[in-house]
Amino acid sequence: MDAADAAAEVESQSRTTWEEAAAVFRTLPGGGQGLSILGHDVMEDWEAPYMDALAGVAASQPGPVLEVGYGLGLSAAAIDQRGVEGHVILEANSEVLGRAELWAEEATCPTIVLGGFWQDLVGSMTDATFGGILFDAYPLSPGEAAGDGEVGAFFVEAARLLRPGGVFTFYFDAGRNWIECVRSFQLQTVPKLRDAGFTKVEHDQVACTPRPGCTYFWKDRFLVPMATR
Ligand SMILES: C[S@@+](CC[C@H](N)C(=O)[O-])C[C@H]1O[C@@H](n2cnc3c(N)ncnc32)[C@H](O)[C@@H]1O
Repeated sequence: MDAADAAAEVESQSRTTWEEAAAVFRTLPGGGQGLSILGHDVMEDWEAPYMDALAGVAASQPGPVLEVGYGLGLSAAAIDQRGVEGHVILEANSEVLGRAELWAEEATCPTIVLGGFWQDLVGSMTDATFGGILFDAYPLSPGEAAGDGEVGAFFVEAARLLRPGGVFTFYFDAGRNWIECVRSFQLQTVPKLRDAGFTKVEHDQVACTPRPGCTYFWKDRFLVPMATR
Protein backbone atom coordinates (compact mmCIF):
# COMPACT_ATOMS: atom_id res chain seq x y z
CA MET A 1 0.00 0.00 0.00
CA ASP A 2 1.50 3.39 -0.94
CA ALA A 3 1.14 6.59 1.13
CA ALA A 4 -1.86 7.83 -0.86
CA ASP A 5 -3.72 4.52 -0.40
CA ALA A 6 -2.89 4.54 3.33
CA ALA A 7 -4.22 8.10 3.69
CA ALA A 8 -7.40 7.17 1.82
CA GLU A 9 -7.93 4.20 4.13
CA VAL A 10 -7.50 6.33 7.27
CA GLU A 11 -9.99 8.85 5.86
CA SER A 12 -12.48 6.13 5.03
CA GLN A 13 -12.17 4.64 8.55
CA SER A 14 -12.68 8.01 10.21
CA ARG A 15 -15.79 8.61 8.09
CA THR A 16 -17.23 5.24 9.08
CA THR A 17 -16.51 5.99 12.74
CA TRP A 18 -18.22 9.39 12.48
CA GLU A 19 -21.21 7.96 10.68
CA GLU A 20 -21.83 5.31 13.34
CA ALA A 21 -20.93 7.35 16.45
CA ALA A 22 -23.52 8.30 19.06
CA ALA A 23 -24.77 11.87 18.74
CA VAL A 24 -24.91 13.38 22.23
CA PHE A 25 -27.53 16.11 22.57
CA ARG A 26 -27.13 17.78 25.92
CA THR A 27 -28.13 20.79 27.96
CA LEU A 28 -25.10 23.06 28.26
CA PRO A 29 -23.88 24.52 31.57
CA GLY A 30 -25.93 27.68 32.02
CA GLY A 31 -28.64 26.42 29.65
CA GLY A 32 -28.90 26.07 25.91
CA GLN A 33 -28.43 22.97 23.78
CA GLY A 34 -25.28 21.38 22.41
CA LEU A 35 -24.37 18.49 20.12
CA SER A 36 -21.22 16.42 20.63
CA ILE A 37 -19.95 13.54 18.48
CA LEU A 38 -16.91 11.43 19.45
CA GLY A 39 -16.13 13.97 22.19
CA HIS A 40 -16.08 16.93 19.77
CA ASP A 41 -18.30 19.92 20.51
CA VAL A 42 -19.89 20.06 17.08
CA MET A 43 -22.62 22.63 17.57
CA GLU A 44 -24.12 24.85 20.29
CA ASP A 45 -27.28 26.86 20.04
CA TRP A 46 -25.79 30.26 20.99
CA GLU A 47 -24.69 30.20 17.32
CA ALA A 48 -28.32 30.79 16.30
CA PRO A 49 -27.75 34.40 15.04
CA TYR A 50 -24.91 33.15 12.82
CA MET A 51 -27.00 30.30 11.45
CA ASP A 52 -29.82 32.74 10.74
CA ALA A 53 -27.44 35.06 8.85
CA LEU A 54 -26.04 32.17 6.76
CA ALA A 55 -29.58 30.97 6.02
CA GLY A 56 -30.54 34.49 4.93
CA VAL A 57 -27.73 34.48 2.36
CA ALA A 58 -28.44 30.93 1.12
CA ALA A 59 -32.15 31.68 0.69
CA SER A 60 -31.68 35.10 -0.91
CA GLN A 61 -31.85 33.95 -4.54
CA PRO A 62 -34.52 32.06 -6.50
CA GLY A 63 -34.13 28.29 -6.63
CA PRO A 64 -33.78 25.41 -4.19
CA VAL A 65 -31.20 25.47 -1.40
CA LEU A 66 -28.58 22.80 -0.70
CA GLU A 67 -27.42 22.50 2.90
CA VAL A 68 -24.46 20.41 4.09
CA GLY A 69 -24.62 19.35 7.76
CA TYR A 70 -27.83 19.29 9.84
CA GLY A 71 -26.38 19.42 13.39
CA LEU A 72 -28.98 20.95 15.68
CA GLY A 73 -31.10 21.97 12.69
CA LEU A 74 -30.91 25.71 13.44
CA SER A 75 -29.89 26.77 9.93
CA ALA A 76 -32.31 24.22 8.43
CA ALA A 77 -35.18 25.82 10.35
CA ALA A 78 -34.04 29.31 9.36
CA ILE A 79 -33.94 28.31 5.68
CA ASP A 80 -37.36 26.67 5.94
CA GLN A 81 -38.84 29.80 7.54
CA ARG A 82 -37.80 31.81 4.49
CA GLY A 83 -40.14 29.83 2.26
CA VAL A 84 -37.62 28.43 -0.22
CA GLU A 85 -38.88 26.45 -3.22
CA GLY A 86 -36.89 23.36 -2.21
CA HIS A 87 -34.37 22.30 0.44
CA VAL A 88 -31.91 19.41 0.17
CA ILE A 89 -29.99 18.50 3.35
CA LEU A 90 -26.93 16.21 3.48
CA GLU A 91 -26.00 14.68 6.84
CA ALA A 92 -23.25 12.15 7.62
CA ASN A 93 -24.02 10.98 11.17
CA SER A 94 -26.78 8.34 11.36
CA GLU A 95 -28.34 9.59 14.57
CA VAL A 96 -28.38 13.22 13.47
CA LEU A 97 -29.74 12.02 10.13
CA GLY A 98 -32.67 10.38 11.93
CA ARG A 99 -33.50 13.68 13.62
CA ALA A 100 -33.24 15.52 10.32
CA GLU A 101 -35.61 13.07 8.66
CA LEU A 102 -38.17 13.50 11.45
CA TRP A 103 -37.87 17.29 11.23
CA ALA A 104 -38.25 17.22 7.42
CA GLU A 105 -41.65 15.54 7.75
CA GLU A 106 -42.92 18.71 9.43
CA ALA A 107 -41.01 21.24 7.31
CA THR A 108 -43.13 23.80 5.47
CA CYS A 109 -41.01 23.76 2.27
CA PRO A 110 -40.43 20.67 0.09
CA THR A 111 -37.46 19.05 1.83
CA ILE A 112 -35.27 16.05 1.02
CA VAL A 113 -32.72 14.65 3.49
CA LEU A 114 -29.89 12.48 2.16
CA GLY A 115 -27.69 10.41 4.48
CA GLY A 116 -23.95 10.29 3.84
CA PHE A 117 -20.88 12.46 3.34
CA TRP A 118 -21.04 15.28 0.83
CA GLN A 119 -17.88 13.82 -0.73
CA ASP A 120 -19.94 10.76 -1.74
CA LEU A 121 -23.22 12.50 -2.55
CA VAL A 122 -22.70 15.65 -4.60
CA GLY A 123 -20.92 14.02 -7.56
CA SER A 124 -24.21 12.65 -8.90
CA MET A 125 -26.05 15.98 -8.58
CA THR A 126 -26.79 17.94 -11.76
CA ASP A 127 -24.92 21.15 -12.60
CA ALA A 128 -26.69 24.49 -11.93
CA THR A 129 -29.43 23.00 -9.73
CA PHE A 130 -29.42 25.34 -6.73
CA GLY A 131 -30.05 29.02 -6.06
CA GLY A 132 -28.19 28.87 -2.75
CA ILE A 133 -25.81 26.61 -0.83
CA LEU A 134 -25.04 26.64 2.90
CA PHE A 135 -22.07 24.53 4.02
CA ASP A 136 -21.60 23.84 7.73
CA ALA A 137 -20.05 20.39 8.09
CA TYR A 138 -17.51 19.58 10.78
CA PRO A 139 -13.78 18.91 10.23
CA LEU A 140 -12.99 15.25 10.83
CA SER A 141 -9.24 15.85 11.13
CA PRO A 142 -7.24 18.66 12.82
CA GLY A 143 -5.68 19.58 9.47
CA GLU A 144 -9.12 20.55 8.15
CA ALA A 145 -10.04 22.68 11.15
CA ALA A 146 -8.66 26.17 10.40
CA GLY A 147 -10.02 28.71 7.95
CA ASP A 148 -11.30 27.09 4.75
CA GLY A 149 -9.54 23.80 5.58
CA GLU A 150 -12.57 21.57 5.14
CA VAL A 151 -14.89 23.64 3.01
CA GLY A 152 -12.12 24.47 0.51
CA ALA A 153 -12.45 21.03 -1.06
CA PHE A 154 -16.13 21.80 -1.68
CA PHE A 155 -15.65 25.12 -3.52
CA VAL A 156 -15.49 23.64 -7.02
CA GLU A 157 -18.60 21.54 -6.39
CA ALA A 158 -20.45 24.55 -4.97
CA ALA A 159 -19.69 26.56 -8.10
CA ARG A 160 -20.77 23.68 -10.32
CA LEU A 161 -24.05 23.10 -8.47
CA LEU A 162 -25.14 26.75 -8.37
CA ARG A 163 -27.15 28.47 -11.06
CA PRO A 164 -25.62 31.68 -12.46
CA GLY A 165 -26.38 34.36 -9.87
CA GLY A 166 -26.72 31.73 -7.14
CA VAL A 167 -24.95 32.31 -3.83
CA PHE A 168 -22.74 30.17 -1.64
CA THR A 169 -22.14 30.72 2.07
CA PHE A 170 -20.38 28.69 4.74
CA TYR A 171 -19.16 28.54 8.32
CA PHE A 172 -15.85 30.33 8.49
CA ASP A 173 -13.51 30.94 11.40
CA ALA A 174 -9.78 31.64 11.34
CA GLY A 175 -7.12 33.43 13.38
CA ARG A 176 -6.87 34.57 16.99
CA ASN A 177 -8.98 37.69 16.55
CA TRP A 178 -11.39 39.39 14.15
CA ILE A 179 -8.67 41.17 12.15
CA GLU A 180 -6.85 37.89 11.54
CA CYS A 181 -10.12 36.23 10.58
CA VAL A 182 -10.91 38.85 7.92
CA ARG A 183 -7.33 38.84 6.68
CA SER A 184 -7.33 35.06 6.31
CA PHE A 185 -10.63 35.20 4.41
CA GLN A 186 -9.47 37.93 2.06
CA LEU A 187 -5.94 36.69 1.41
CA GLN A 188 -6.43 32.94 1.36
CA THR A 189 -10.07 32.07 0.83
CA VAL A 190 -11.26 34.70 -1.67
CA PRO A 191 -8.63 33.70 -4.29
CA LYS A 192 -9.66 30.05 -3.97
CA LEU A 193 -13.33 30.96 -4.44
CA ARG A 194 -12.44 32.99 -7.55
CA ASP A 195 -10.36 30.12 -8.91
CA ALA A 196 -13.34 27.81 -8.35
CA GLY A 197 -15.52 30.02 -10.58
CA PHE A 198 -17.22 32.55 -8.31
CA THR A 199 -17.57 35.96 -9.96
CA LYS A 200 -18.14 38.09 -6.86
CA VAL A 201 -17.01 37.40 -3.29
CA GLU A 202 -18.07 39.60 -0.38
CA HIS A 203 -18.50 39.12 3.32
CA ASP A 204 -20.63 40.44 6.12
CA GLN A 205 -20.41 39.99 9.89
CA VAL A 206 -22.84 39.07 12.64
CA ALA A 207 -22.45 39.63 16.37
CA CYS A 208 -22.54 36.42 18.39
CA THR A 209 -21.69 35.81 22.03
CA PRO A 210 -20.24 32.39 22.81
CA ARG A 211 -21.34 30.89 26.10
CA PRO A 212 -18.78 31.01 28.90
CA GLY A 213 -16.73 27.81 28.65
CA CYS A 214 -17.27 27.27 24.91
CA THR A 215 -14.31 25.21 23.65
CA TYR A 216 -14.23 26.25 20.00
CA PHE A 217 -15.02 29.97 19.58
CA TRP A 218 -13.92 33.08 21.48
CA LYS A 219 -14.53 36.07 19.20
CA ASP A 220 -17.49 38.44 19.42
CA ARG A 221 -18.64 38.03 15.81
CA PHE A 222 -18.68 35.64 12.90
CA LEU A 223 -17.78 36.26 9.30
CA VAL A 224 -20.58 35.61 6.78
CA PRO A 225 -19.15 34.69 3.34
CA MET A 226 -21.20 35.55 0.25
CA ALA A 227 -19.81 34.08 -2.98
CA THR A 228 -21.87 34.62 -6.12
CA ARG A 229 -21.66 32.23 -9.08
C1 LIG B 1 -21.74 22.14 12.88
S1 LIG B 1 -22.95 20.90 12.58
C2 LIG B 1 -24.11 21.76 11.58
C3 LIG B 1 -24.87 22.78 12.35
C4 LIG B 1 -26.11 23.29 11.66
N1 LIG B 1 -25.77 24.28 10.65
C5 LIG B 1 -27.07 23.87 12.65
O1 LIG B 1 -27.60 24.98 12.43
O2 LIG B 1 -27.32 23.22 13.68
C6 LIG B 1 -22.11 19.86 11.44
C7 LIG B 1 -22.93 18.66 10.96
O3 LIG B 1 -22.31 18.21 9.76
C8 LIG B 1 -22.26 16.79 9.76
N2 LIG B 1 -21.14 16.41 8.88
C9 LIG B 1 -19.81 16.39 9.20
N3 LIG B 1 -19.08 16.09 8.11
C10 LIG B 1 -19.96 15.94 7.08
C11 LIG B 1 -19.81 15.65 5.69
N4 LIG B 1 -18.59 15.46 5.14
N5 LIG B 1 -20.93 15.54 4.92
C12 LIG B 1 -22.16 15.73 5.47
N6 LIG B 1 -22.36 16.02 6.79
C13 LIG B 1 -21.28 16.15 7.57
C14 LIG B 1 -22.07 16.43 11.23
O4 LIG B 1 -22.46 15.12 11.48
C15 LIG B 1 -22.94 17.48 11.92
O5 LIG B 1 -24.26 17.03 12.10
